[in-house]
Amino acid sequence: MNERACIIAIDGPAGAGKSTVAKHLAKHFGFLNLETGAMYRAFALKALESGVDLDDAAALEQLSRETSITLEPVEGGNRVLLDGVEVTARIRDADVTQGASRVSVHPPIRVWMVGLQRALGRNRRVVMEGRDIGTVVFPNADLKFFLDASPEARSQRRYEQVSPMDGAGTGTGTGAQVHAAIAKELRERDARDRNRAESPLRAAPDAIVIDSTNMSLNEVLTSIEDQVRDHLHLPVVNEEL
Ligand code: C5P
Repeated sequence: MNERACIIAIDGPAGAGKSTVAKHLAKHFGFLNLETGAMYRAFALKALESGVDLDDAAALEQLSRETSITLEPVEGGNRVLLDGVEVTARIRDADVTQGASRVSVHPPIRVWMVGLQRALGRNRRVVMEGRDIGTVVFPNADLKFFLDASPEARSQRRYEQVSPMDGAGTGTGTGAQVHAAIAKELRERDARDRNRAESPLRAAPDAIVIDSTNMSLNEVLTSIEDQVRDHLHLPVVNEEL
């Protein structure tokens, strides 16, 4: 088997299905799966716990010098350590989710993260998922996907993933209230991720754009898997879908 280094970049807005696709591809072709969003989330948690203002770029840059973030690919996702302490579950809470999209607008924080991410991917076979992987982190990635879907489809999918009882950390309430809270949270993150000055969310010119609004998960996975096989001629190491 050809074991040369290989980077598959998967970018797109929140709720477009990037994580599911990245996990599947990594398993199917025997690659590591790295979720870069988890790194921004871990840093946001550090800022929240340290009481640092999420809009203060200089204070955040200082904080970043005292922060260690480790991403460990494990079965079914990434284990995340912040200063040696596992925070894998905590970083999915709503306050951290919004915090991540706030700390990620600051250029010094992005420069730091991009350096960490390049080091993680170097000389490896990796499916890396995020917002700027194909545009900034690995502009020469072997293959790039930009996974998109309408805001309505994305918030509907998020809603279906969570139990109305816990509201995915958005607070308790009726189904309609939870749905509205998820849609609002996605809209806010979309606006921040797309409109920031530094590395805004956009498709790389050479990315394969997939709009999954009217596609089933299986259709998306099959389409992406076929493209990877056609473009990269990779051997399949795990047939199960
Ligand atoms: O992908 P995830 O939802 O975990 O990302 C959380 C936030 O981190 C995003 O809303 C975005 O603001 C930021 N992010 C980023 N660049 C990446 C990955 C995530 O700016 N490569």
